[in-house]
Amino acid sequence: MKNLKWWQKTAVYQIYPKSFLDTTGSGTGDLRGITDKLDYLQKLGIGAVWLTPIYPSPQIDNGYDISDYTAIDKNFGTMKDFENLVAEGKRRNIRVVMDLVFNHSSDKHAWFIESKSSKNNPKADWYIWRDAKADGSPPTNWRGIFGGSVWQWCEERGQYYLHTFAVEQPDLNWENPKVRQALFDAANFWLEKGVGGFRIDAITYIKKPAEFLDGEPDGKDGMVSVHTMTANTDGILDFLHEFKREVFDGHDIFTVGEANGVDAEDLQKWVGSDGVFDMLFEFSHVNLSLKGGEIWCRPTKWKLTELKQAIANSQAATKNNGWYPIFFENHDKPRSINYFLPKGADSVKAAKALGTILLTMRGTPFIFEGQELGMSNVAWNSIDAYDDIQSHGQYELALNEGFSKEQALEFVHFFSRDNARTPMQWSADANAGFTAGKSWLPVNENYKTCNAEVEDVDENSVLNYFRKLNNLRQNNETLLNGDYEELLKDDEKIFAFVRSAENKKIYVLVNFTLDEVKFSPEFLSRAKFIFGSFENNVAGTLRPLEAVVYEEMK
Ligand code: GLC
Repeated sequence: MKNLKWWQKTAVYQIYPKSFLDTTGSGTGDLRGITDKLDYLQKLGIGAVWLTPIYPSPQIDNGYDISDYTAIDKNFGTMKDFENLVAEGKRRNIRVVMDLVFNHSSDKHAWFIESKSSKNNPKADWYIWRDAKADGSPPTNWRGIFGGSVWQWCEERGQYYLHTFAVEQPDLNWENPKVRQALFDAANFWLEKGVGGFRIDAITYIKKPAEFLDGEPDGKDGMVSVHTMTANTDGILDFLHEFKREVFDGHDIFTVGEANGVDAEDLQKWVGSDGVFDMLFEFSHVNLSLKGGEIWCRPTKWKLTELKQAIANSQAATKNNGWYPIFFENHDKPRSINYFLPKGADSVKAAKALGTILLTMRGTPFIFEGQELGMSNVAWNSIDAYDDIQSHGQYELALNEGFSKEQALEFVHFFSRDNARTPMQWSADANAGFTAGKSWLPVNENYKTCNAEVEDVDENSVLNYFRKLNNLRQNNETLLNGDYEELLKDDEKIFAFVRSAENKKIYVLVNFTLDEVKFSPEFLSRAKFIFGSFENNVAGTLRPLEAVVYEEMK
């Protein structure tokens, strides 16, 4: 069995700093809040925290619009606070992982302000500028990820600029070597601060096609998704290999790219010995209800067998090459228990069911803040209550497609990124103990029962389940490094797999339904029950949402 690196043997915890813990009463979370909770994370068995962006930003897209790549936003604290977090983390063996947002900057970044000032300034080609079509309309009919055209007219310069995401997030021109160098310098700045790795944002969009052409419209607005036209363009890997050479090589860190649009078949070029990253977030398993693209008003139905297939494909693709980042939640997705399990599912059982897969599969588990408590979606009664810029874009899109306001809001309820961004639920105190001020986003109403303080002392809580199972994983060679093989492939009710090493096999079975189901695999007679979401297991039966772990010694 090969030796694993530190980041293959631990679990990573994703923090959305704005919603984690506010120590000043400002209503938004801060770095000191994270430092305060390192003991909590240590007890959960976390070896690294990935922070979504904490750089200076106008916060149009909650920090993914960066106006300075080598500083800390004052709302989150100071560089000293950051250094202190890294140092305190090190003392507990928890490394800090930064989010690199290099596809675009904020329109308030000094680079963009200079770039837009004329057609011949020194940074004139640091962003992607094009003339209007003869009739003055935008250069192409591409729709941005957040809705509307990707092109924004700039009066000052008399040209359009391209933004894959919000108007305030102009895309950087990676064709320009000076741009690449400036970005690599920024990443190296954080390496010198002692960070433990990087999550690289929206990386599939950095390479644009040589020619900018209109695409076949995919919606009533006459536009086509920019994703279809630019994601994963040939030549992108050359940029990324340079990135690796200039930044990642020779450091004891991990890298995980956010790569929507890279499927399991392509994974080999992206990760592992010939690839560029250690891991890649690909989205096939969390986008099953958006098979037609990022259009919330066209949700697609999916079956458990499809979820299993998507995961099995990624496991197979990373079996001998690269490593899999296991995740069911992040700051861009709704809460997993609402997304993957039937309506009406008990949230504690549901969170344990998914948590069992998360913590026993092959790869590095990524726990998103609050997932370890069983936090769930919200459903606010007006679009105005939502902060998430994508929710607003998708709401408009649904109205344009002919849906009523009520229907458009239902799509937002289901998909909104704010579902994951409500404040962390620390206690049953006001604002769930998140802030002494006015919270920037309302707390989920269920905070009185679903919170860290209550769950800490409840042996049967989701939190203690995650702690115990993560501990089991980290001390178990088979769970860390054993092979993965899917079981009961065609079963629409049970998610099942086996992890095997030389002397041991570990079987995991999870009932995804609200029915009691029977199972009779041949291993039952040889294996013993070692862990589960109910206290015991009645051999051959899975109660609604029950998850079990069986072990067989060879
Ligand atoms: C990524 C981030 C998302 C952000 C977008 C633009 O998908 O995860 O939150 O809005 O990139 O930076």
